[in-house]
Amino acid sequence: MKKNLDAANLLYPMPTVLVGTVVKGRPNFLTIAHVGIMNHGHPQYVSIGLAKIHYSNQGIHEHKAFSINFPSEDMVELTDCVGMISGKKTDKSGMFELFEGELAGAPMIVRCPVNMECRLHDVVDFPTHEVFIGEIVASYADEEVLTGGVVDYAKVRPLLFDMPRRKYWRLGEPFADCWSVGKRLRRSLTGED
Ligand SMILES: Cc1cc2nc3c(=O)[nH]c(=O)nc-3n(C[C@H](O)[C@H](O)[C@H](O)COP(=O)(O)O)c2cc1C
Repeated sequence: MKKNLDAANLLYPMPTVLVGTVVKGRPNFLTIAHVGIMNHGHPQYVSIGLAKIHYSNQGIHEHKAFSINFPSEDMVELTDCVGMISGKKTDKSGMFELFEGELAGAPMIVRCPVNMECRLHDVVDFPTHEVFIGEIVASYADEEVLTGGVVDYAKVRPLLFDMPRRKYWRLGEPFADCWSVGKRLRRSLTGED
């Protein structure tokens, strides 16, 4: 029997990331999990959903740029803390060792094994949130998290965010190949190999 959950958003788990901006001349970071892939192709566009009350929004509007940084499991305490303090009251600029890429206003976190810098493309204005859509201009990964030249999420050990239960989950084991495991069924339905 299905229980009606009143239009709850159940689109979880989502990756937890640290978004980097520069506000009033200082790097600032916030933790978010409401991220999306908008255009998978060239160029690549991603979205980040930020409540309007956050400090970080000003920096994205000002510099038209932001970074997305993937913390690993060993950064869970830092990541959670960054998501509970605002740059309005607390200077978060010294919390991480930073590096810069091509864009001003998109500081990236050295300790995060995967980083992307994004140029602001558009802002979708919702009543309580702004969705910033960014074009990825460059992506970086520590060599230690690559397997065969591509990012290996088993090595990244991302934090998966579960809003309904307010938990961070870790990644499990891969168990099937995409665009592959369904081929036998496709063949029986369509005759295609
Ligand atoms: C696990 C976690 C996930 C969060 N996800 C989001 C999110 O997707 N969008 C958002 O606007 N705030 C999110 N937050 C809240 C912000 O990170 C938090 O309010 C932060 O203090 C804002 O910082 P700022 O005011 O310096 O920008 C999340 C917090 C945590 C701990």
